[in-house]
Amino acid sequence: TFKPLVFSGVQPTGNLHLGNYLGAIRKFVALQEKHECIFCVVDMHSITAQLVHEDLKAQTRSIAAAFIAAGIDPVKHIVFNQSAVPAHAELAWIFNCVARIGWMNRMTQFKDKAGKDRENASLGLLAYPSLMAADILLYRATHVPVGDDQKQHLELTRDIAQKFNIDFSARIKASGLGVDMMVGEEKVSGYFPMTEPLIEGPAPRVMSLRDGTKKMSKSDPSDLSRINMTDDAETIGRKIRKAKTDPAPLPESLDELEGRPEAQNLVGIYAALSDKTRQQVLDEYGGQQFSVFKPAHADLAVQVLEPITAEMQRLMADPSHIDAILREGSGRANAIAEKTMADVREIIGF
Ligand code: ADP
Ligand code: NA
Repeated sequence: TFKPLVFSGVQPTGNLHLGNYLGAIRKFVALQEKHECIFCVVDMHSITAQLVHEDLKAQTRSIAAAFIAAGIDPVKHIVFNQSAVPAHAELAWIFNCVARIGWMNRMTQFKDKAGKDRENASLGLLAYPSLMAADILLYRATHVPVGDDQKQHLELTRDIAQKFNIDFSARIKASGLGVDMMVGEEKVSGYFPMTEPLIEGPAPRVMSLRDGTKKMSKSDPSDLSRINMTDDAETIGRKIRKAKTDPAPLPESLDELEGRPEAQNLVGIYAALSDKTRQQVLDEYGGQQFSVFKPAHADLAVQVLEPITAEMQRLMADPSHIDAILREGSGRANAIAEKTMADVREIIGF
């Protein structure tokens, strides 16, 4: 069976927000205690939707700084940027030939990001999930902590791994490179694992503070819709006070949160930030008005985010230090990636 390994990536586009923190980075920090981890700044993904960026390098550094400021240990684990390991592109090409166009066309993220003028979207945007599968499978990662929005891409990663394992089964067997694994009840052999997403938690999808039906996103034109990792205490307080809510007080039970997306979102965020369950939050605030809950919420958000923001800024003041961490991480990632690619080339017959 495959050795447990955690992999995840974050794009260096725009400001990190609370959704990225709760959906991804906070989980990375918890997972690193018990698992071997690889955390990647996926700079090659960031040119799929927008080709030209003013300062991609600075954006890349700021994501690496956020990882480290949040508590990721870049000595024990690998922190690197995707473009420094060319094997990501090489394996993605092979996966482009494994995956089917129909699979890509069904991706909701592609439909959202391409918008109405789909013919004019970049080919890279369509093939984004192939590159994501390559990111993960290059390290034969078994677990990927992500937000709920990435669930479909993780399913596609499994589809690609499975099709590769099946299409090349004879050659994998002949090369002796197969690994036994359980797929459901069945024991099979293959080269790539069936990677599991790690999505659970009280806030798997953090929603916009202005519209409880839309996910919090860096592409939302309203800055009031999201809390950025770089917002100061006053801004965080103002955004939470202004968050859209309904007039009823908070309920006592989780059932009564149904149909109240804004209340549900704030309770989920509070629970995630305080490491409590949503029911524990309702035990404390059920029956109270938002005028009571919101200030407590803002205080908590500031208490959690302020030290991270401060540490991020301290790290960002020394770009050469972050670059050295990324270079060292890329070297370690490259060693693993090259081993995988040697196997893959042998399996394909290059
Ligand atoms: P974005 O989705 O903001 O463009 P990325 O695609 O780089 O950012 O995603 C980085 C991580 O943050 C992914 O694991 C993604 O699932 C997670 N994430 C992004 N937005 C949210 C959200 N609103 N709620 C929960 N997790 C999120
Ligand atoms: Na995303």
